[in-house]
Amino acid sequence: MSPAAMTDSHAVPCSVRDVAVNRLRRVVVTGAAGFIGGHLAERLVKAGVLVIGVDRRDPKHDAVAATNMDAVLRAPNFVFVPADLASCPVESLLLDADAVFHLAGIPGVRPSWGPRFTDYAENNIVATQRLMEAAIRLGVPRVVVASSSSVYGPTLGAAEETAATAPLSPYGVSKLAAESLCLAYARRADSVTSVAALRYFTVYGPRQRPDMLIGRVLAAALGGPPVRLYGGGDQCRDFTFVTDAVAATVAAATASAAGVFNIGAGRAASVAEVVRIAGCITGARIPTSPATARDGDVPATLSDPARARDELGWSAQVDLVEGMTRHWQWLNTPAAPSVAVS
Ligand code: NAD
Ligand code: UGA
Repeated sequence: MSPAAMTDSHAVPCSVRDVAVNRLRRVVVTGAAGFIGGHLAERLVKAGVLVIGVDRRDPKHDAVAATNMDAVLRAPNFVFVPADLASCPVESLLLDADAVFHLAGIPGVRPSWGPRFTDYAENNIVATQRLMEAAIRLGVPRVVVASSSSVYGPTLGAAEETAATAPLSPYGVSKLAAESLCLAYARRADSVTSVAALRYFTVYGPRQRPDMLIGRVLAAALGGPPVRLYGGGDQCRDFTFVTDAVAATVAAATASAAGVFNIGAGRAASVAEVVRIAGCITGARIPTSPATARDGDVPATLSDPARARDELGWSAQVDLVEGMTRHWQWLNTPAAPSVAVS
C-alpha cells in the first residue's frame, strides 16, 4: 500500500501514549533504518502513530537496517519506503503528515575529510534542501531535524544555543548547513512550517553505530578488538542515552517553541572514564591501545540543556552508568550482532 493511501485507522492502541505522542496521527521518519531513527520509529509505532519510515538502506538487503527496524517492520501502522532523499520524488512521501522527523544523513565526525565529503554534502545538505522544498510546498506543520553538537566546535564550558558555531570537521559544517537550511525555509514568507533543530550530543545505547566509542568499549569486554584511544582518551563527551534522545525528539514535534535545542544531559565524561565504567559494569579488563588524535574531534562537548528543559519539557533521565549497563545488557542478548573476537 502506498503511504498516501494509509489512514490512521491502522493505528494500534498502546499503553505508552503520552501527551506529545497523542497529538500526532501520521508522521514521516527519515533515516528510519538507522540507529536513532529505528528507536524513534519504534517509540512512535508503539504509541499508535502511523509512521512512514524512509531510508535508502533497504532491510531486505541490509542486515543492519533489518535489525534497526525489527520491532516495527511487521507493525500494521508502519510503512517502510526505500528511497534516497538526495534524488527521489519527496512530496508523495510527506502527504498529510503532521510532522516530519528528518534523521537521515551521513553521521560520523572523523571520516568526513577527503573524498567522502561528497557523500556528506549530498546526503546531509542536498537531501535536506529537497526535503524542505517539499515540506514547505505541502505545508507540513512541523519538521524536527537531527543536528549535532559538532556544529559548535571547541567551546569553553557548557554551550548555550546562542554560542558561536565554528565546526572543526566537514561533518560539522554539513550539519550546520542542514539545520540552517531548515530554519531558512521555515522563515520564508510562504511557509507555514515550523522547525525544531535538535543538536544531539553523542548518542549511545542498543544498536549504536559500530564506529562509535561506547559500543566499541563494551564489545572489547566481550573479546572484540582493543579500543584505540584517539589522542590518549582525555576527550570529554556529553553522552546521551538513546531513549532520552528519542523522548526529546518526540517532545519537539508538538512543542510550540521553534529553533535550535541542545539535546544533552549537561554532564560530560572522558573517554578514559567510559573505559573505567565499562570495566566495572562488565567485570572485564578492557584492552586499549594509544592512537593519534583525529582531525575534527573537539576536546570536549558539554550542553547547556536549559532551553530543552524550559521549552520542550525535556531533560535527560538516564545517567551514564545506567545507560552503559542497559547497552551492555543488550549486547548480551541474541538480538545483538555477534562481536568479532580479536
Ligand atoms: P545512522 O547512520 O545509524 O542513521 C542514518 C540513516 O540515514 C541511515 O540508515 C542511512 O541509510 C540514512 N540515510 C542517509 N542518507 C540518506 C538519504 N539520502 N536518503 C535516505 N536515507 C538516508 O546514524 P544515527 O547515529 O542514527 O544518526 C541519525 C542522525 O542524527 C544523523 O542525521 C546524524 O548526523 C545525527 N546525529 C547523530 C548523533 C549520534 O550520536 N548518533 C549525534 C548527533 C547527530
Ligand atoms: C558522535 C556521532 O558519531 C556524530 O554523528 C555526532 O554528530 C556527534 O556524536 C555529536 O555529538 O554531534 P563523537 O562524539 O565523535 O560523534 O562520538 P564517538 O564516536 O562515540 O566518540 C566519542 C569520543 O571517543 C571521541 O572523542 C572519539 O575520538 C573517541 N573515540 C571514538 C576513541 O577514542 N576511539 C574510538 O574507537 C572511537
